[in-house]
Amino acid sequence: MTLRARAAPTPAAAETAALPTHVAIIMDGNGRWAAARHLPRIAGHREGARAVRRTIEAAIHHRIPWLTLYAFSSENWRRPAGEVFDLTGLLRSYIKSELAELAAAGVRLRIIGERDRFPADIQADLAQAEASTADNGKLNLTVALSYGARAELTAAARRIAADVQAGRLAADAVDEATVASRLFTAGTPDPDLLIRTSGEQRLSNFLLWQVAYAELVFQDVLWPDYAEPQFAAALAVFAQRERRFGARPA
Ligand code: IPE
Ligand code: IPE
Ligand code: MG
Repeated sequence: MTLRARAAPTPAAAETAALPTHVAIIMDGNGRWAAARHLPRIAGHREGARAVRRTIEAAIHHRIPWLTLYAFSSENWRRPAGEVFDLTGLLRSYIKSELAELAAAGVRLRIIGERDRFPADIQADLAQAEASTADNGKLNLTVALSYGARAELTAAARRIAADVQAGRLAADAVDEATVASRLFTAGTPDPDLLIRTSGEQRLSNFLLWQVAYAELVFQDVLWPDYAEPQFAAALAVFAQRERRFGARPA
């Protein structure tokens, strides 16, 4: 399969202004998709991987420069060992089968999360995937793997405390930039639009710091059914939102 290169739209200036720079997605509902078909959960995860491909294509098509996908949370390790094993295997084969095409499509891949919790071969593949796409700039794709915002913020606090203790940093010099620069997402823009599929309306420990002013869009579709029309619908909802960032309404 090749990432389909479709003609990009040439939106009017007003539309361009309403496009998010960074879309983050909590990809939820794989298990329910499988259950509805009397299939094992892994079948839902496999179909979910196809939805990831479609969504990457859609983001490129809509000229979204940053896309972050929540693929596996710190808390997902609590799932039955069989499902964790299946998900790990799927991740392993996904990197191998998709990397060349992602690279050819101009995708830069970044991984956020506790990657050292994965088997060594997967860690090596992830590092290789990041290194080999580091010069690409068409789409900045971040995949959250074994990611949890509380763990991320706790690690940042620990590093700040160590810097203060060692005399490298003054306690009263700690500001928001100090914290942001110690997160996995250091140097990347905050999400403008956060989508969650499957109808659930919660954050499940995803990017708690970074989504402070994101617009939240909850879609009833199960993740394995996600494709360009649903992505376009979320962008349309976003375009209707009035963002204020605490300031007085216009
Ligand atoms: C999302 O689908 C994928 C992961 C969390 C790994 P789920 O597996 O959470 O599917 P549901 O929520 O049980 O339907
Ligand atoms: C959040 O979904 C994590 C991912 C989508 C990777 P979950 O399905 O794990 O979240 P909860 O347990 O319903 O909150
Ligand atoms: Mg779920």
